[in-house]
Amino acid sequence: MAKIQNPMNKTLIKIDGLYKIFGEGEQQALTRLRQGADPAELFTQYGCSVALNNITLEIYRGEIFVIVGLSGSGKSTLLRTLNRLIIPSAGEVFFSGQPLSGLSAAALIQLRRHEMGMVFQSFALLPRRSVLDNAAFGLELAGIGTAQRHKQALAVLAQVGLEQVAGQLPHQLSGGMQQRVGLARALVVNPTLLLMDEAFSALDPINRREMQELLLRLQASQRRTVIFVTHDIEEALRIGNRIAIMQQGRVIQTGTAEQIVNAPANAYVRRFFAGVDTSRFVLAEDYAGAFSGQLTPPREQPHDRNR
Ligand SMILES: Nc1ncnc2c1ncn2[C@@H]1O[C@H](COP(=O)(O)OP(=O)(O)OP(=O)(O)O)[C@@H](O)[C@H]1O
Ligand SMILES: [Mg+2]
Repeated sequence: MAKIQNPMNKTLIKIDGLYKIFGEGEQQALTRLRQGADPAELFTQYGCSVALNNITLEIYRGEIFVIVGLSGSGKSTLLRTLNRLIIPSAGEVFFSGQPLSGLSAAALIQLRRHEMGMVFQSFALLPRRSVLDNAAFGLELAGIGTAQRHKQALAVLAQVGLEQVAGQLPHQLSGGMQQRVGLARALVVNPTLLLMDEAFSALDPINRREMQELLLRLQASQRRTVIFVTHDIEEALRIGNRIAIMQQGRVIQTGTAEQIVNAPANAYVRRFFAGVDTSRFVLAEDYAGAFSGQLTPPREQPHDRNR
């Protein structure tokens, strides 16, 4: 399938008024929610969980967009509506301008296989297949012949530093290396969009840091669109070009690390930064005060804030 591309438009994904309610009385609960009912009340009344509550967002081509929030805030649900593993209760997701709800089942499979790669927290590797065959799996699904897919898989394994272990089985590798295979498997189809759900959360701190650096290195040369879910604000600050903060199914703030650090939208956002060194994002005191609305705004914006 030809890749859907509209490079003139800087927005790759547009999420418009998206809701997801889990439970039997989904549509009834949605109506009540839109009338202003409290999600907690809907749980008692209909046994429904409001996972996404009216989300509108744009994700730009080539950015690492991080979704951060406490457990149960709706991060995974939001990510899974982007490849329609979850069907929203209302609202629409546009990919390159195309509404996902308008795609046939076959077109959706093509979109998932050719445009999107996904990396999971659990690695989800095929245990009896070699590292090479795991990395090549997406190409196998696409019907690419053995020689060609091995060649391409070896090339991505080299990108993630694993060409030496191509013949081994996943269990012979450390967790960090297994997740590199997970990343290689997602990258092998050269997807426009990479979806990563807590992808580094199972790793020890050193491997986690290495994976973050690997992702940033790959990003410097490949400029893919990456959507990265984490509950770790330090990870979000380190890798995100922009960050969305979720609370109880809503996106309560979207911005660069600097914008969020300097003007947190509420106490929930502020609590994320407790004990985190945010000094490299903090503006000079006067500007920071103005940014958060405590002082009269400065006449000029500060320069060179990307130190
Ligand atoms: N399949 C499901 N059926 C019923 N409720 C669900 C389902 N999936 C998610 N939920 C509910 O939706 C809400 C959001 O869940 P979600 O998994 O998206 O949160 P999350 O931010 O990814 O959390 P975590 O950090 O723990 O992974 C939660 O209240 C959850 O219980
Ligand atoms: Mg989750």
